[in-house]
Amino acid sequence: MPSVSFERQAELLIIEIDNPPVNAVSHAVRTGLRDILAATIGDHSISSIVIACAGRTFSAGADITEFDLAELPEPSHNDVYNMIETMRCPVIAALHGSVLGGGLELALACHYRVASDTAKIGLPEVKLGVIPGAGGTQRLPRLTGIAAALDMMTSGAPVSAQRALELGIVDRVVEDDVRDIAIEIARSLAAEEAAPPATSTLPMDRSTLADGFFDTYRQRLPSRARGGGAAREIVDCVEAGMTLPFSEALAKESRAFHKCKNSPESAALRYLFLAERRAGRLPSSDKKIETRPIESVAVIGAGTMGGGIAMNFANAGIPVTVVEINDDALRHGLNLVRKNYETSVAKGRISQQQCDARMGLIRGTLSYDDIADADLVIEAAFENMEIKQAICQRLGETCKPGAIIGTNTSSLDVNALASASGRPEDFIGMHFFSPANVMKLVEVVRGDKTSPGVLASVMALAKAIGKVPVVSGVCFGFIGNRMLESYLREAEFLLMEGASPAQIDRAIEATGMAMGPCRMIDLAGVDVAAKVVLENQKIGGVPDDPAYRAVVRKLFEDGRFGQKTKQGYYRYEGRNAHEDPEVAEICAGLASRHGITRRATISDREIVERCLYPLINEGARILEEGIAYRAGDIDVVWANGYGFPAYKGGPMYMAERVGFDVIQSRLNHYAESRGNPFGYWTVSPWLMRNADGSSAA
Ligand code: 3HC
Repeated sequence: MPSVSFERQAELLIIEIDNPPVNAVSHAVRTGLRDILAATIGDHSISSIVIACAGRTFSAGADITEFDLAELPEPSHNDVYNMIETMRCPVIAALHGSVLGGGLELALACHYRVASDTAKIGLPEVKLGVIPGAGGTQRLPRLTGIAAALDMMTSGAPVSAQRALELGIVDRVVEDDVRDIAIEIARSLAAEEAAPPATSTLPMDRSTLADGFFDTYRQRLPSRARGGGAAREIVDCVEAGMTLPFSEALAKESRAFHKCKNSPESAALRYLFLAERRAGRLPSSDKKIETRPIESVAVIGAGTMGGGIAMNFANAGIPVTVVEINDDALRHGLNLVRKNYETSVAKGRISQQQCDARMGLIRGTLSYDDIADADLVIEAAFENMEIKQAICQRLGETCKPGAIIGTNTSSLDVNALASASGRPEDFIGMHFFSPANVMKLVEVVRGDKTSPGVLASVMALAKAIGKVPVVSGVCFGFIGNRMLESYLREAEFLLMEGASPAQIDRAIEATGMAMGPCRMIDLAGVDVAAKVVLENQKIGGVPDDPAYRAVVRKLFEDGRFGQKTKQGYYRYEGRNAHEDPEVAEICAGLASRHGITRRATISDREIVERCLYPLINEGARILEEGIAYRAGDIDVVWANGYGFPAYKGGPMYMAERVGFDVIQSRLNHYAESRGNPFGYWTVSPWLMRNADGSSAA
């Protein structure tokens, strides 16, 4: 089937793009459009054209699978879009679903845009490390004004059809079939004497811009070194568009697009985009696996986690019942949820009506009888094995046959909880990250006996509520927290050897990580971090090394719980962290107790290698053991849950770029220089195989 076809209705030509799944403007689509338009140019019997797309969406933009080519094959997007804009008769775009990137740029080249009221419209290229490269930086500001266009393009965030109407991006929003209305509009425009003007002929209005606007705008963006390259190119292109003739501005935009497309940052971001989609798929994914319908959900516990989890379902229109043990706890929990929604209303993120509708979907109860009919129940009680086991047992007795029972745990043994429920095939782990209503990552933990249908159902549900799900097998800490453990272990050894928290954080943050390990623990709570170590110790998961995570344990003992007690790895004034000589003394004391040699200088290179390379090695062990299905799944976890810079692709992607052989040789180097009595530096077989090239990463 050709990906572009046309139909004549008297004087009207309807062009349809049909390139599933998302009508990407691929080479075939560009060629198809060009050929139809070229044949139309000489046909004076055509008085208007509608461009519409088949399927669930208008177009998600350029075909990103073409981006690995050094040059996109001709015709270019601009060749085709310029043809559209210079057609003699009006061209009307009928927009529905996602109208993104090169898809929106196609629409901007049309003379009139009509959108269905549910359409999402935006230029998200920056999220893939590129810029709108088909006229977006030049046509969008001519419609919306410069500031609004820059905000849309540098954030990459789409807007609703209604907002697009307010901004001048679309000319009309309709509730009815958008293609039918576009046809009506096309006929009436054909009858008018003057067709709507081409977007490129509109002025770039700088009348409302303050002096130095572009320089001030640039200051708000991340530096090029921290992944801000594409956003900065966008600003440069818009600024250049103020003075350059349109065709030269387009040429400048094209050059900038190609530069960004060929950058390592864009390659990493595109890799992550595809890895995220792959992570949602089960390797054994066999179409015959029957999923269970999930139309009602219950959450046990209205604490911060429980409330946040419940909000995800209400946001997606799924009714959710929250169970608490007493009135006070329930009232407190539901009030917190309401407050969260009210903050979103105050910030203009949702309307009061949406807030009321979502609260209307959340029901509180003290009785397990009220959740007997729920399709999915997620327990979100305290991270304590005994408490969770008791709840899971009760859920096993209460839930209807066929219901899925989930546990929100960050590290506890999902198999033990599954067995407590008495229904291990119905049981699954769902590790939400805090705040659960904001963070997209969910580790979906398959127990040894979780049925394939339950796993597939929960993965589908997680995607449906807008989460990024990644499957993990059962082990302490699953994928993310297990890898975090080796990273924190080395950060603490470095502290005892003489590095300061600030030096460690600075060195790690210079790699692009959102936050260094010391600041991170202070924020999350030293008590929380120490309890993880203590819980792991209880089940024999901690090495027989008295110096292991000695710093966090000592800070916990001393009541230095981090930001909440104004002292942890740092001393705090408000949120400002200051170096604390007491921490240096604590670390020196621990070093002498554990016979650790102190050093006057520790290089940043050593800090980065010692924290990140064992983390990568642990990721390799996780792959060796089959805990994660793919290296990409690990990267998705780290980029979405642990502040790993997305423009570096994730730890396993980074390892491949650094070279698995280099990582192996540095691990061996530290094994020699530090000794290896507890196996901290033992290279995983997966890493060894990849280092000698005997297996693809
Ligand atoms: N090119 C090629 N394939 C794409 C694509 C694109 N632009 N966008 C999505 N796909 C593929 C996905 O990889 C996935 O493939 P799979 O089924 O093999 O895994 C399939 O389409 C469905 O995608 P999703 O699973 O993401 O479907 P959703 O319904 O959840 O989301 C979407 C749809 C909102 C359109 C989302 O896919 C998306 O955000 N896509 C990317 C949009 C984007 O970044 N566009 C800009 C591209 S760059 C550009 O246009 C440059 C231009 O300026 C020159």
